[in-house]
Amino acid sequence: MADKSATLQLPDGNTVELPVYSPSAGLDVVDVRTLGKANYFTYDPGFMATASCESKITFIDGAKGILLYRGYSIDELAEHSDFTEVSYLLINGELPNPEQKQEFIENINCHTMVHEQMRNFFNGFRRDAHPMAIMVAVVGAMSAFYHDSLDINNEEHRKVSAFRLIAKVPTLAAMCYRYYCGHPFVHPRNEMCYSENFLNMMFSMPSHDEKPNPVLVKAMDRIFTLHADHEQNASTSTVRLAGSSGANPFACIASGIASLWGPAHGGANEACLNMLEEIGTVENIPKYLLKARDKNDPFRLMGFGHRVYKNFDPRATVMRKTTHEVLATLKCQDDPLFQVALELEKIALEDEYFISRKLYPNVDFYSGIILSAIGIPKNMFTVIFALARTVGWVSQWSEMISEDTLRIGRPRQLYTGEPQRSFVDMKNR
Ligand code: SDX
Repeated sequence: MADKSATLQLPDGNTVELPVYSPSAGLDVVDVRTLGKANYFTYDPGFMATASCESKITFIDGAKGILLYRGYSIDELAEHSDFTEVSYLLINGELPNPEQKQEFIENINCHTMVHEQMRNFFNGFRRDAHPMAIMVAVVGAMSAFYHDSLDINNEEHRKVSAFRLIAKVPTLAAMCYRYYCGHPFVHPRNEMCYSENFLNMMFSMPSHDEKPNPVLVKAMDRIFTLHADHEQNASTSTVRLAGSSGANPFACIASGIASLWGPAHGGANEACLNMLEEIGTVENIPKYLLKARDKNDPFRLMGFGHRVYKNFDPRATVMRKTTHEVLATLKCQDDPLFQVALELEKIALEDEYFISRKLYPNVDFYSGIILSAIGIPKNMFTVIFALARTVGWVSQWSEMISEDTLRIGRPRQLYTGEPQRSFVDMKNR
């Protein structure tokens, strides 16, 4: 695979030839695996310049604001495809034909129900427990219910676990919301499409028949598509690292949910809406931009900035357009938070601090506004993100497990602690 090499001149006078691989898209990579033999490690906290794996699933061009799922651009998929097709694409590498799509849907529909005993987990939580705390627990607990398919070296086990996760996570997510509200759980309806079924499990009431609004179903489906996968982000890297030890897929996805919860990652959508509510009016924006620029102030403009995108996050562009459409359809385009978000984006993108640091709105900037318009409460925002990202995590996990040489991930370190020293008895301390 190496078609070039790099020569590294080391302080001890030695040189090391390092293979360089060319990708199908993106930057060349220098293979540093042999550096250990030359008694050196690389050092890259936060993995700013480290490719942790080879993957064929998703590609981001941060400079151009491009996101591809298996080579297809996110804006084309958001416009012309749907989340079920995108899920098939991420897992299998190609868009499904009608028969493949129908079979995929049927495979998911076989697994949308959860074991009745899983209800007991919810009763162990306070009603006001954060839904992400419940999701980490109940998704991890799936390995206690579906232990007939935990042999990660068995392709059929991997496949059925993938279907179980993609099918059951929406059911469990809706159960989190229903439990929080004190409403009865709603069973999945297999005659509904994936996103309609989710909204039905979230909001339908036994007291009256009311199908989800098709406009909101389409918006929900597009939000799932936009969040489905995103290269080796923090939660996906967590899933891969957990999976590298041979942990079962349910435990790996639970670890991804835990990592996604952080406000710097998937928790940013909830934090962003809280920020917009705190700003409240367009007149308050300058005050908060000053706080965001102030090094001594921990305040950050949530929903802005990205490790990879140094141009517009293409998902934010689609999300803004969809937010316009949904608010117009619901006749609430003068939603004050949306007005604050639009003005905040406009002012920030003209501000030298944000321009110089290439800080643009990311996927989380508008998602909270449209999720609120759909009727989803803030504490469920990151659960929605986790629901959508489950197919990306499962795809990345499957890709890693299917590799010929699965090796446990075990980074080294730059140790700056105490050199070895002798024990000191209490009387001498
Ligand atoms: C997601 O990785 C992924 O792909 C993630 C994700 C996915 O789909 O999986 O895209 C989903 O997590 C999107 C990001 C959501 N997070 C937020 O919106 C939280 C706010 N954003 C920041 O915390 C930050 O931008 C990060 C965490 C997203 C990126 O951080 P980096 O790459 O480590 O950048 P940095 O912290 O080194 O910031 C560089 C500079 C710093 O200023 P200087 O020290 O150079 O003076 O930019 C500043 C930062 O202070 N900065 C911000 C800022 N983000 C960066 N200043 C104000 N507000 C911000 N939001």
